[in-house]
Formats: sequence, structure tokens, C-alpha cells
Amino acid sequence: MTYEVKDIKLAPRGKLMIDWAERHMPVLAEIRRELSKKKPLKGMKVGAALHTEAKTAVLVRTFAAAGAKVAITSCNPLSTRDEVAAALAKEGVEVYAWRGETSREYYANLNHVLDIKPHVLVDDGADLISLVHSKRTELLKRVQGASEETTTGVNRLRMMAADGALKFPVMAVNDSPAKRFFDNRFGTAESAFQAIMGITNTLIAGKNIVVVGYGFVGRGIASRAKGLGAIVTVVETDPIKALEASMDGFRVTGMAKASRLGDIFVTTTGNLKVIREEHMRAMKDGAILCNAGHFNVEIDIPALRKLAVKRCEVLEDVEEFQLKDGRRLYLLAEGRLVNLAGKRSLGHPMEIMDMSFALQALSVEYIAKHGGELEPKVYEVPAEIDRKVAELKLKSVGVELEKPTKEQLEYLRSWRAGT
Ligand code: ADE
Repeated sequence: MTYEVKDIKLAPRGKLMIDWAERHMPVLAEIRRELSKKKPLKGMKVGAALHTEAKTAVLVRTFAAAGAKVAITSCNPLSTRDEVAAALAKEGVEVYAWRGETSREYYANLNHVLDIKPHVLVDDGADLISLVHSKRTELLKRVQGASEETTTGVNRLRMMAADGALKFPVMAVNDSPAKRFFDNRFGTAESAFQAIMGITNTLIAGKNIVVVGYGFVGRGIASRAKGLGAIVTVVETDPIKALEASMDGFRVTGMAKASRLGDIFVTTTGNLKVIREEHMRAMKDGAILCNAGHFNVEIDIPALRKLAVKRCEVLEDVEEFQLKDGRRLYLLAEGRLVNLAGKRSLGHPMEIMDMSFALQALSVEYIAKHGGELEPKVYEVPAEIDRKVAELKLKSVGVELEKPTKEQLEYLRSWRAGT
């Protein structure tokens, strides 16, 4: 079997981790039961660049049960759980992933996944799709389509489509309501605090937390921070979102002022250098900086390194930067997405990834069925798929849905005055 993992002997432990996740992902389990009967991916190859951790492995098992041969690497050099990678390799999946890949290894692993000549790609951040369009163009004829997990990836793909560069259809799983209302908002909020607290052991209550960005992720983090007793400040460039944050009860201000207030800074913008040198110069001694966006570009880490007269790792995933005047700033998980990149970070809760990966499984089935007929564009996940995932989730948590009466349905469909 072909794989490159840290240590294949970790497989038994990884299997237990995957089995645990699987028991908490009932929606995906139901979809797997359906797909394993239909085998819609029979004879197909799926190439994935996803955070190679336990919940992702449950999705990989689902693709395999649907008949596909799967190759996977991680979409972040720090987010692989080595036990899980080993277990997947033992289960016959081509795995090229380990925690702590160098940049060269990261790209080599993406290329290894593409070497299987996949028909469908499953991406998180769009690095795999971008690689096919830049350096592996020989595969463009082969790939029927792809699905993309995250906001950053979907934004990149929309830019590619606008430039006329996108050569196959991509399902924007990120944009479907059953994903972003839950995964981006509740999932990131819980996983970010699980990680921040797990890595630092710091108290959140009473702390000044600065949330940079008030999209779905920022909203979730700000709301959880408030729930944990923090005093929350939001920094936002979009007037509607800034207003929303203000009416949600948060202090909203510019980064210059926020820099002086924060004990903990969390970036969630998807944009680069939202925390820059001038902000770091203004921060309090002991401020903690971390990122919950996809790429490690939001905090200007080169500037932080330049400012520091001394640097050292004070705890696992906590780097101390001592400034000239003696103040110390702390960077978590190298400024990579803190909820997955920290050694003790677990990613989103299982029940959340249950929905996101159910959408992925059904989107890949959709591409396998319709990819050949679709224009090379970014597509919304069909509303029926979204609804199916939400209904299965409701069922799994025992929440009842009210049914509209016939009369109500007719009323909603009518447009004549007085009806
Ligand atoms: N686990 C696997 N993929 C993830 C993602 N995109 N976000 C959080 N946790 C995950």
C-alpha cells in the first residue's frame, strides 16, 4: 500500500479515535448506508486535501463505502492527527500527511494525491484545486469537478471563475446554510475556545477579547466569548457587519484602539496583515494573539519576529516574543488556524462536522452524477441536499419539525390582494 505517515504503528489508537467520531456522526452514517447500497462512486478516484483528523476520516470511509478509491493529504501543515493518518493508511487509503510538514513537504503531498489522477477533488482552502490549474494542468481533462469546504477557498474559486481560469465545476459546500450557520458559527466558536483554553490554560471570564472580523466565524467567536464572561471588542471593515456587531452589544472600534485594549486577539477575516507592527507595538504586556482564519497571513508574523529581541517556546504551541521594552506577546500555533493547528486542538465538534461532511459526501455524489453536464463555475449546493442534511440532523437530535397546513401553504403561494 502507498502512504507516507509519521508512524504506522499509531494506527490502532487512530482507529479508536475515528470510531469514536463515527459514533457521533449519525447523519453521515445514514448517508453512508445509502451510498454503500448505491455505490455512486464505483470505479472513481477521489483526491482530498482536508484536515486529516478523526471526523475527516469518517468522511473518507464514506467515500470508500460509496465505491471510491481515495487519496488524502492535509490542507494545513499542522492539522494532521498522526494516529488518524496511520489508521486510514491501514484501512487502504492512500495517505500523505503528518503533523509538522515543511512547506515543501506540504506541496509534495498535494502532488502525491494528484498522482492518483482523481476524478473528483475535495478541498479545504482551494490549494489542491489551484495546483491542478497551475502546475498539474494535465489533470484538467480528467477532473469532473470538486467540492470546497471553506470561505477562503470559495472566495479564491470565485476569483478564478471571474478571471475565466476555473476549468471544472465546484460545489461551494461552505456557502450552504446547513454548513455556515452551524460549522462557521458554532463549530469555530467552540473549537477556537477549546484550543485557546487547552493550549494556554488561561481564564476567559473578565478578559478583554478582540475579535477581528464579524463574518459567520467572528460572530460565533464574539458570542461565545461573551457567554464565557469576556468583554468583547469587534473590529470590522464592513459597515453592515460593524453595525450588526454594535447592535449585538459589542464594542466596535478600529484596530488602532483595539490593540491597546485586548488581552486576547482572535483574527477571523480571511484577509492578510490585519494585525500589523503598529498594532503589536501598542499591545499590553502578555497579550495573546491567535488566528481562526484558514491561512496564517492575518497576523503579520514576520513583523512580530522583527520586533522581538528574544523569542522562545514557553509552552507547546505558545511562542513568546519579547519586545525591546520588555513587554511580551504570545503567538499561538504559529498563527495558523488555532482550532486545528495546535497539538491539543481538536477541530470542530463531531456533531458539527457531521453536517458539513454529510454535505461534502452528497456534493461529491452530485458531481459524480452531474459533473460532466455542468459549466466550469462555482455552484451552490442544491437546496434539496441542504434540506436533507438539516432534516436528518433534526431527526438525530430528536427535534420535531412543525408541518404547515394545506391552507397555510396555499396562503403563502397566493399573491392576490385580500387573499
Ligand atoms: N475537522 C475537519 N475539517 C475541519 C474544518 N474545516 N474545520 C474544523 N474542524 C475540522
